[in-house]
Amino acid sequence: MKILFEITRQKSQAEKPYVQSVELETTDTTVARALELINAGQLSDDPVQWDCSCRQKKCGACAMLINGRPRLACDTMLSEFPNGKVTLAPLRKFPVVRDLAVDRSVMFDALKKLGAWLEDEAGEDGTGMAYDASRCLQCGCCLEVCPNFYAGGKFFGASALTPASRLIAQASKEDGKRLSNTYKAHFYNGCGKSLACRDICPAGIDTERLLVNSNAAAVWKRSLRKNKK
Ligand code: SF4
Ligand code: SF4
Ligand code: FES
Repeated sequence: MKILFEITRQKSQAEKPYVQSVELETTDTTVARALELINAGQLSDDPVQWDCSCRQKKCGACAMLINGRPRLACDTMLSEFPNGKVTLAPLRKFPVVRDLAVDRSVMFDALKKLGAWLEDEAGEDGTGMAYDASRCLQCGCCLEVCPNFYAGGKFFGASALTPASRLIAQASKEDGKRLSNTYKAHFYNGCGKSLACRDICPAGIDTERLLVNSNAAAVWKRSLRKNKK
């Protein structure tokens, strides 16, 4: 198949972005592999910068706008675009480092502020909430589509809801009050419940369920509903 890529390039934040067109003749593969082929071939003199670590939908680093939609490059096949045209651009809610690579530190800083920097394996909490939340890739796709999130704001978005939900599900009584206050300040008070985050999440996390359960526990002080599965 022949694919026309239109790639947004930007050398630094100080410089203006521009679109570069590149044609690639290839068999069906992922956008991530296509970028590698382009960088090794047509653009070997000036390769496109983008982030990639696992190539297996595990690290979230390769999130970018693919035909205008936030997606993982390693989880998007070229055959999904039968008209033969693929546009690639950086996520817009984070500062561009170069080309398709963005600085996601605002998302990681939010986790630190929430006290939600998780290192332990998700334990059993009876609701499945901790396990669900632990699948978050911290890719930032949810922030891209969230109408209420902007970098530097008080509202931290669904990428912070996921670890907060896990902590809420597993919190001891002593931690409960602190968590409840930070959850209300940085999530509950800002979320408009549009659920765009649920529809875009590449990990398939049901943010609506996390939202309902976390609101019940942290705001209404109800016990978590047990998972019926
Ligand atoms: S909730 Fe989903 S979209 Fe948001 S950061 Fe986690 S994995 Fe990515
Ligand atoms: S439900 Fe809507 S406002 Fe709340 S985090 Fe998801 S996208 Fe943002
Ligand atoms: S490279 Fe890790 S999710 Fe795509």
